[in-house]
Amino acid sequence: MRQSKPMTNIDSFTHVRGESIYVDDVNVREGTGFGVVFDAPKAHGKIKHIDYSEARALKGVKRIFTHKDIPGENQIGGIIPDEPLFAEHEIHFWGQPIALIVAESEFIARQARRLIKIEIEDLPVITTAREAKEKGSFINDPRTFELGNTNTAFENCDYVFEGECFSNGQEHLYIEAQGAYAEPLENGNIKISSSTQGPTHVQKTTARVLGLPMHKIEVDVTRLGGGFGGKEDQATPWGVMAALATYHLGQSVKLILNRHDDLRMTGKRHPYESTFKIGLTKDLNILAFEAEFLQNAGAAADLSPAIAERTLFHATNSYFVEHVKTTVLSCKTNLPPNTAFRGFGGPQGMFVIESAIAKAASEIGVSPIDIQEVNLLKDDDVFSYGQIATQVEAGNSWFAAKKEYDLQQLIKEVEAFNASNDHFKKGLSMMPVCFGISFTNTPMNHARALVHIYQDGSIGISTAAVEMGQGVNTKLLQIAAQTFSVNPDKVKIETTNTTRIANTSPSAASSTADLNGKALLKACFALLERLKTVASEDLNCEKDKISIENEFVIFNGKKTDLNWTDLIASTMLKRVSLSEHAHYATPLIHYDKSKEKGHPFAYHVYGTSIFITTVDCLRGTYEFDTVKIVHDYGQSMSKGIDLGQVEGGLVQGIGWMTMEEIAYNDDGRLLSNALSTYKVPDIFSVPKSIEVMPLETLGSDMAILKSKAVGEPPLMYGIGAYFAIQNAIKSFNPSYNLNFHAPMTPEKVLQALYSD
Ligand code: MTE
Ligand code: HPA
Ligand code: MOS
Repeated sequence: MRQSKPMTNIDSFTHVRGESIYVDDVNVREGTGFGVVFDAPKAHGKIKHIDYSEARALKGVKRIFTHKDIPGENQIGGIIPDEPLFAEHEIHFWGQPIALIVAESEFIARQARRLIKIEIEDLPVITTAREAKEKGSFINDPRTFELGNTNTAFENCDYVFEGECFSNGQEHLYIEAQGAYAEPLENGNIKISSSTQGPTHVQKTTARVLGLPMHKIEVDVTRLGGGFGGKEDQATPWGVMAALATYHLGQSVKLILNRHDDLRMTGKRHPYESTFKIGLTKDLNILAFEAEFLQNAGAAADLSPAIAERTLFHATNSYFVEHVKTTVLSCKTNLPPNTAFRGFGGPQGMFVIESAIAKAASEIGVSPIDIQEVNLLKDDDVFSYGQIATQVEAGNSWFAAKKEYDLQQLIKEVEAFNASNDHFKKGLSMMPVCFGISFTNTPMNHARALVHIYQDGSIGISTAAVEMGQGVNTKLLQIAAQTFSVNPDKVKIETTNTTRIANTSPSAASSTADLNGKALLKACFALLERLKTVASEDLNCEKDKISIENEFVIFNGKKTDLNWTDLIASTMLKRVSLSEHAHYATPLIHYDKSKEKGHPFAYHVYGTSIFITTVDCLRGTYEFDTVKIVHDYGQSMSKGIDLGQVEGGLVQGIGWMTMEEIAYNDDGRLLSNALSTYKVPDIFSVPKSIEVMPLETLGSDMAILKSKAVGEPPLMYGIGAYFAIQNAIKSFNPSYNLNFHAPMTPEKVLQALYSD
């Protein structure tokens, strides 16, 4: 039926009752083995000897699997084949899997792990990107985007500033840890229930490691308890390991990491060390911008090359800069391979240009807001990668935020507060965001949907979309219910399964609803056409005057006696297909890596945030009084879900910029290896108020039902938190030299307050 009020998330009922099904809830078969991974206790070294004898002898241990048990290739690297499933002769990061112990219980497997003895000859450990660069340790060749000519442009600038920036990694902290359950089917086929954003990646990699054709591996996903990019590629090894053990044992195997193992063994958001050079004219026009990004990729490529690329795509954020030269180097270190994380390298890029603007403003003696405003992207401006900007909402969201939230008044209040308080200072920042929607790797931008209308009129839908809390299943259900004009109760979203929808891209790049939703829409339209043909025959009237509304056939605007259920029954009797499998590929996009030019994005999402923070200048602690956002949803098809994405992304961004501090020691051991040493935002640290105003826009035809992608862009609003704190510090300590080293933890704030 046409929805008068927005649909609530279809998962909320089972979530609240604790009835939602995750991998750990899948029914296990009799005889199931439980896996625990034995991993490297050093970050870099040669394996001299491993003694498994005591572990093997422990009662209840079924078998221990190593690289020697791999029938196919010991290789899981997706973009570059540089990552073994199990280490062979060398280890490259602390936490690298070496073996899988399978026992009658997880408890026994853990006991066995303690009995394994390993001798390692230490090799030098690199933990930072800069050190890797100095030693020439890289994942691949650098990439450079260039627009105009920065060399000559800097000569024409009235101001030129240089600086350095660091942003740290970030732990995904999905509530459901990594895991998989593998079970043997007949004829050597294996089914894997996986907590993955990329079912096809799990299928393909398992086939490769087991030396089997892909059709022998079925991957099924019900939902994830969060992914945030951490399960785009890094859910794969656990599925492969469970399948490998099942292959040998002929029994089901369950492998679910506990939190400690997950934190130690998996990669995170990439830390970046960057340098910048920014040149402005005296009317604050940014004429030239250069940056070099050192990405700490960790010990293997994983998705780093694609993430590096997105850093370059977003290096000028929401601004038009005429002369740009940006370079990124993926530096190979001895950390766990870092991976996708909401924003996919974009946030790291944007932090640098925002830092450059803050530095320029501070040196020139103006507000960063003045510089930001002058340089906002406009229609027909060109991005450094050659795409021409259209339907630009940068100025619209910026000026709407200024006006609707009365920026002048907010600034006055902050100034008045600071003038009358010595030990508390407020800081205000403003930040525009512009994020490109599409996988930057053009060939990944397609999807399929399979729709069955059952003969009783109920509907089952399969796509490649993986539900991870972002609400995509609710959006898909809404698309089908609206298109057929049936009650949402008639529609079911099936699990994501590689036998129903094959060769899929992961649910990522904020594009899941766009890609899968558009495929679904095509399938529904094709079915609707057939149903209208049947209705026109049954009613003996012209097809083009027929529609379906609220489960009845309408002819010429009038309700007929033919209802949905009877129409479906009649279609079945007439032997007309009630199923449809449709394919959608994003039109128009292209990219030429040899020129670093093209049109990689279907569209961009825009928005603007305003932050106000209060810093306690005795303690260095801070609170966020308010965050005020104007966000470009396009025409939101699901306001509640989209607001949830904006709030969740924002808070995750604030966490990254202010409190989440990943720490490795010089030996490459993760120190922040538990929730007692890794602080994420909680209900006490979120902003006291969050206001989100939708920007009034037409939306984009490239977005599903003009409802723009919303998963990642809001994370970048969180960057404003960093600069709000900087501004508060500056008003307490005017001699403070702005510094760009995130996260801005209370310790660092305290040092800055009393620095000279
Ligand atoms: N929201 C929740 N609740 N859980 C998640 O794991 N992942 C984010 C974002 N929002 C995530 C989330 C990331 S990294 C992406 S790319 C998108 O959701 C993926 O889903 P979408 O393509 O449907 O937006
Ligand atoms: N975003 C997210 N995930 C991806 C991308 C991207 O642009 N490319 C490949 N995987
Ligand atoms: Mo999101 S980082 O593209 O999974």
